[in-house]
Amino acid sequence: MKTLILFYSFTGKTGIIAKALGESLKADVVEIKDREGRKGFSGMLSLMKDTKSEVPAGVEPETVDVSGYDRIFLGSPNWGSACSAPMSSFIANNDFSGKSLVLFITQSIVGAKKAAKDITDRVEKKGGTVKSFFHVNTLLRSRKRVRRVALEKAEGYKSKEKIK
Ligand SMILES: Cc1cc2nc3c(=O)[nH]c(=O)nc-3n(C[C@H](O)[C@H](O)[C@H](O)COP(=O)(O)O)c2cc1C
Repeated sequence: MKTLILFYSFTGKTGIIAKALGESLKADVVEIKDREGRKGFSGMLSLMKDTKSEVPAGVEPETVDVSGYDRIFLGSPNWGSACSAPMSSFIANNDFSGKSLVLFITQSIVGAKKAAKDITDRVEKKGGTVKSFFHVNTLLRSRKRVRRVALEKAEGYKSKEKIK
């Protein structure tokens, strides 16, 4: 079974989950980056503004050929109980027809369910089916702890047929 992990991460937490899933599930991992490379507080404000106003963020890569994969994990931070702007743009650029996806979301503490609904709507518009999602709260958790939680989650997806 070929597994692909797609993720966007602003401060690295979603990236920790993506890498742990990748190692554990022996999957290909592709990071989606903001093409403008916005960083720090002003970068965050600019990206948040894009998220609220649905301005498409330029992303790198713009598209990924997902046709050869049996399952796809797609990860984003929760931004205001919604998908992050770069991941929204990436989803809009791509075709997930016939693909089953698992969403993973990191957040401080609140809104993951709403964010998952937002991401699900976007993925479904592009032909994909979201089978399940999980979230990891990152507030006051060390990177080591976040990685440990991710490895525990990955165990649940180890069985070849299991996507949920
Ligand atoms: C613009 C912005 C909006 C956010 N909105 C929320 C939110 O609504 N709920 C929440 O619990 N955390 C929120 N957070 C916190 C992030 O979701 C959390 O820190 C996440 O783990 C960061 O992932 P990353 O390191 O991969 O960027 C927000 C962070 C940013 C930068």
